[in-house]
Amino acid sequence: MHPDSLFGGEAFERGVDERRRLEYQFELLREDFDLWFDAALRLAGLRLDPAGATWSVLDAGCGEGLFTHEIAHRYPRARVVGFDVDARAVAVAEQRCARQPNVALSVHDVRQPILGSVPAAHGFDLAVLWLVLPYLPDRRTVLANLAATLRPGGVLLLGNVPDEALRLDHPAAAGLMAAGRQLVERMGLGGLQDSLTPLLAEAGFEAVTTHELRYPMGGATRSGHRWYAYMLTGMSAAKPVVVDTFGLMDAAEYDRRIDQLAAESVLDIAGDVRFLVTLARRAGSGTDG
Ligand SMILES: C[S@@+](CC[C@H](N)C(=O)[O-])C[C@H]1O[C@@H](n2cnc3c(N)ncnc32)[C@H](O)[C@@H]1O
Repeated sequence: MHPDSLFGGEAFERGVDERRRLEYQFELLREDFDLWFDAALRLAGLRLDPAGATWSVLDAGCGEGLFTHEIAHRYPRARVVGFDVDARAVAVAEQRCARQPNVALSVHDVRQPILGSVPAAHGFDLAVLWLVLPYLPDRRTVLANLAATLRPGGVLLLGNVPDEALRLDHPAAAGLMAAGRQLVERMGLGGLQDSLTPLLAEAGFEAVTTHELRYPMGGATRSGHRWYAYMLTGMSAAKPVVVDTFGLMDAAEYDRRIDQLAAESVLDIAGDVRFLVTLARRAGSGTDG
């Protein structure tokens, strides 16, 4: 089970654990995100020097605005538009970005047409859909909606999770990961890795490349400790969906397994967490190489 295979969809109520998980995730992925965001700028032929960076970007499914703020802070002359289906998350994002005059936020469902609904959402140079698509079974519609907001030659940056996104060799984790896999299957949320490239081509994207990010979990490094803490937070946050919504495991059994994992010495833990990063350019004139 990958924490990001379970949250963010409608089945999930954003609790304290989930908010903490997303903050952890932001801190852990931030450096990679910045590098991939800049790769998206290069693919779109856009400027990276902050003074000349006057392009526009849409952050779809922006949540509490962690990455929205990161982009706006790094590129204060860029126009940054964010939306999310969760009004409470957007309210937090508004507070977070209150000192960034280049950010505009609103509530919107990415499964619905974006043009004409989200203010000034057209002709974007870039669009970001970071860890949102794993929760949405109708990927075709979502990608078509995003393509319609981009100018020809504009670039889409996607963060996703592969089906085998978490490797953790521990008996207590095996049952939790099996429950997670069942859940992903029942909700029709798997198979992104293989279907994404053809779906993007169908939506009018070209120059599609996908890269796997792999982060070691456990062991002696600080980063390995933090990824393990992130994974435990994610598993705790998943309990209401796995236990209450889908009845895939008994609550006491779930707690027992989490307690066993939490009591383990992190030095003895070996595993990794994986993500997928995809870049794709909207076909048409205006492309740059
Ligand atoms: C894992 S969070 C990622 C948030 C943000 N991109 C980040 O990385 O911090 C997934 C987000 O997708 C949003 N989401 C889920 N379904 C959505 C939809 N149909 N339209 C817009 N946002 C959606 C959730 O509300 C949640 O904020």
